[in-house]
Amino acid sequence: MASPLEIEEVSFDYGGPDVFQNFSMTIAEQGQCLLLGPSGSGKSTLVNLVCGFLKPRSGFIRIAGELISSGSEPQRDAVRRRHLAIIFQSLRLVSALSVLGNLQLAARLAGRSVSRAEVSALLEELDIVDKASAKPHQLSQGQAQRAAIARALIVKPDLLLADEPTSALDDANAERVANLFRQMTKDHGTSLLVATHDARLRTHFSTVLDLNGGER
Ligand SMILES: Nc1ncnc2c1ncn2[C@@H]1O[C@H](COP(=O)(O)OP(=O)(O)OP(=O)(O)O)[C@@H](O)[C@H]1O
Ligand SMILES: [Mg+2]
Repeated sequence: MASPLEIEEVSFDYGGPDVFQNFSMTIAEQGQCLLLGPSGSGKSTLVNLVCGFLKPRSGFIRIAGELISSGSEPQRDAVRRRHLAIIFQSLRLVSALSVLGNLQLAARLAGRSVSRAEVSALLEELDIVDKASAKPHQLSQGQAQRAAIARALIVKPDLLLADEPTSALDDANAERVANLFRQMTKDHGTSLLVATHDARLRTHFSTVLDLNGGER
């Protein structure tokens, strides 16, 4: 079976200096990789490259063996929908929909049917079940972040990309989210790439890749 994520010799720039130069990494099946690095080191850029919103200048990115670094927009969109769920740094919840509506839409777009009970159980685990009918603007920052996490997890993706998923969370909720991530890998074989500067997550990951330093 193909690796959930292969990044091969990727170079990327926004028109100025290189953000990545011949950068390579792989995530093994059911692997969990924490991507650390200070502000501006390229964490969000890498997440956007992996989900195909940015294209590398050279090199390849494959998700479950399928190229997402090149090809037409619809082809890349199809790869994204088949394999990925993304927790964006800016969350990108659909403002017109409730928390429940956001989760249902994500499930529908991924072609998954989810029961109301399944959604409630997940919201319960993230301690926002009482916010199911609330719109994003009615949520606190931490609640909105957990809603975005729930929206990604409900899809049960092959690969979960998370960009600073715990930045607005207190210790108890950060712990909760780390445990849910681990459970998702155990129950559904989901692989994880989590980009963060939140050192609290370090202990939860066996592979830590430091964009300023190498691997441990
Ligand atoms: N749209 C853009 N246009 C030009 N330069 C950009 C753009 N987005 C990011 N950059 C630059 O690319 C580099 C990497 O930025 P990126 O957002 O990937 O960092 P980050 O590690 O996610 O930082 P943070 O921890 O603050 O979220 C930075 O030097 C940034 O200024
Ligand atoms: Mg970022």
